[in-house]
This record gives sequence, structure tokens and C-alpha cells, in this order.
Amino acid sequence: MYTEKLLDHFKNPRNMGRIENPDGIGKVGNPVCGDVMWIYIKVKDNRIEDIKFETFGCGAAIATSSVITELAKGKTIEEAEKITNKDVIDVLEGLPPLKKHCSLLAEEGLHAAIEDYRKKQNSQK
Ligand code: FES
Repeated sequence: MYTEKLLDHFKNPRNMGRIENPDGIGKVGNPVCGDVMWIYIKVKDNRIEDIKFETFGCGAAIATSSVITELAKGKTIEEAEKITNKDVIDVLEGLPPLKKHCSLLAEEGLHAAIEDYRKKQNSQK
């Protein structure tokens, strides 16, 4: 039911881990399946210089987090904000309908990390 691309990202996740002193952290979870995801970002000159994730969840959640970190790395905050779960599914060349919520978790995690970054920026002003 999974594409080759998804299995590749599941078996060899990119950017897995944690960033020390991140500029933004997004923590999201799905109450139905109980899966949880953290996205850490390091921002320099308004660009996502580094991004990592930790996901305790299903294979699709791990693969979609891996893909979203690849899509967001090097992007400006404004560009990264526009990344959606559809972009992630396109990279994976499809996702079973039952697993759509897993890709939404990745989108929400990235957006939550950006929101946290923005909040921290504003509080420093
Ligand atoms: Fe919950 Fe995939 S089953 S994120």
C-alpha cells in the first residue's frame, strides 16, 4: 500500500533528531492514533538553515516528517509556511487515504515550529 518513495523515507529518514537551542519548536499530536511529532528549526537571515524532527508514530508519519524537513530546508520562512501536506504527498508519489492525517501532522508540525519562531522573535522586540 506504500510507494517505494515512502518506504525509502521510512527506512532512511532524513534530518531525524533534535537541534540544540532551536529558534522554533513545533509539537503536534493526533489524539485519535496517539502519534506525536516534534519539529525543530534553526533560522538565519529569515531562512530555515537547519531543521530536524522526532516522530513517535506510524511509518507514514515518519516518512512525511522526513519529506517535510527536506522541503523546508533552505527556504525562507514565508516559503516554508506555504508548504502543505499535498506537497509532501506529491514527493511521496501518493499516500493511502487512511494515512492522509499522518501527512497533516507533518504540515501542522512545521507550521507550529514557524509560529513558535515568530512568537519568540516578537517577544525579543
Ligand atoms: Fe497516526 Fe499515522 S497513524 S500519524
